[in-house]
Amino acid sequence: MNETVSGVAGAEATAGEGRVILPGSTVGILGGGQLGRMLALAGSALGYRFVTLDPTPDAPCGQVARQITAAYDDREAARELAGQADVITYEFENVDAGVADMLMRESYVPQGSRLLYTTQHRLREKRAVEAAGARVAPYTEIGSERELREAAARFGLPCVLKTATGGYDGKGQFVIRSEEEIPEAYRLLSRAGTELVLEQFIRFEKELSVIAARSPRGETSVFPPAENIHVDNILHLSIVPARIGGDVRREAERLALRIAEGLGVIGLIAVEMFLTADGELFVNELAPRPHNSGHYTMEACRTSQFEQHVRAICNLPLGDTSLLTPVVMVNVLGEHVEPLLARMARPDETAAKLGVAPKVHLYGKREAKSKRKMGHINVLAPDVDAALKWIAETTIWKV
Ligand SMILES: Nc1ncnc2c1ncn2[C@@H]1O[C@H](COP(=O)(O)OP(=O)(O)O)[C@@H](O)[C@H]1O
Ligand SMILES: [Mg+2]
Repeated sequence: MNETVSGVAGAEATAGEGRVILPGSTVGILGGGQLGRMLALAGSALGYRFVTLDPTPDAPCGQVARQITAAYDDREAARELAGQADVITYEFENVDAGVADMLMRESYVPQGSRLLYTTQHRLREKRAVEAAGARVAPYTEIGSERELREAAARFGLPCVLKTATGGYDGKGQFVIRSEEEIPEAYRLLSRAGTELVLEQFIRFEKELSVIAARSPRGETSVFPPAENIHVDNILHLSIVPARIGGDVRREAERLALRIAEGLGVIGLIAVEMFLTADGELFVNELAPRPHNSGHYTMEACRTSQFEQHVRAICNLPLGDTSLLTPVVMVNVLGEHVEPLLARMARPDETAAKLGVAPKVHLYGKREAKSKRKMGHINVLAPDVDAALKWIAETTIWKV
């Protein structure tokens, strides 16, 4: 094994496989939202420097790192990012293919472009998940209203029509509950001009997610599964430990690791799953980046998902993912900011009574638009019920 290590800025060392990017080096992040911000905060603690490319001036990540302010598909700006960074990563999956290729040529992008190509498109993603040995909900590609009608009859109602690309927080999908809704569903979603996928509706008992990491030297690790509760298709709570049996927990972790291996992931992969009443797991979708349902790791695990991502792309040994404490992560949306700030100005007697510690994270976004993700709180607790009680007794989420 050829191993050279030095601690100077921009230093690189070679471990058994792949380049090691040492602290002092600069990490470039395509995208400057909250995920980039929390990556930069975690990586800065390790001694890395950060530069981000984002079109919004003073973006969440730009407040804690250098920022190049330009459109994501601006080739010149991407070239500038490549010039300033020793290694490049991204915080969203809809990276323009041309920009991704250019960055691969001009800089070091350990995650590669293949994983982006796969996870940018629901059909490609589902095929890759199946090839890795995991189940997905029965699905089919839809090319016309007639095909939709036939497939809906085959799958039964309800079923879910989704655009193959560009969807998030429930956007770009339509739950078809009656035959009468078929023309409307087709008309609304075909406007997006991308392929469409119809999925059977899974009557899940719980939604789970598992985040796995893999580094160029082939090391893998997995975080404890989170139990996720959505409100209006936006993640509201992640409960950890998830209220599931040991067998399901181990199987969920095994599936996430298989997908990380099977897809040759470098960095993080978040795997969203449905758990049915008879204990079956179906993979819903993947995200090749830190994930909202992994924010709980920031205080509740020995290593956060953000530190793990930095470690993985820099090819450092991965950190210990053990859970330190039960935790519930609750999202702070635009409408929750004012009541939260009012609450933070005075002592929290409910927290003292329940023995919980709510750790507040705010992303520095200027405009608190309704439903916009503005921050989150990791409620550390003796057990998840105490954390859920604090959330229920706090008036913030009643608006
Ligand atoms: N096939 C399905 N069966 C049941 N519920 C589904 C199905 N697909 C999506 N959903 C529900 O819609 C939510 C959002 O769907 P998802 O495919 O994860 O899209 P997004 O990109 O918006 O997160 C899921 O978390 C789940 O609650
Ligand atoms: Mg999802």
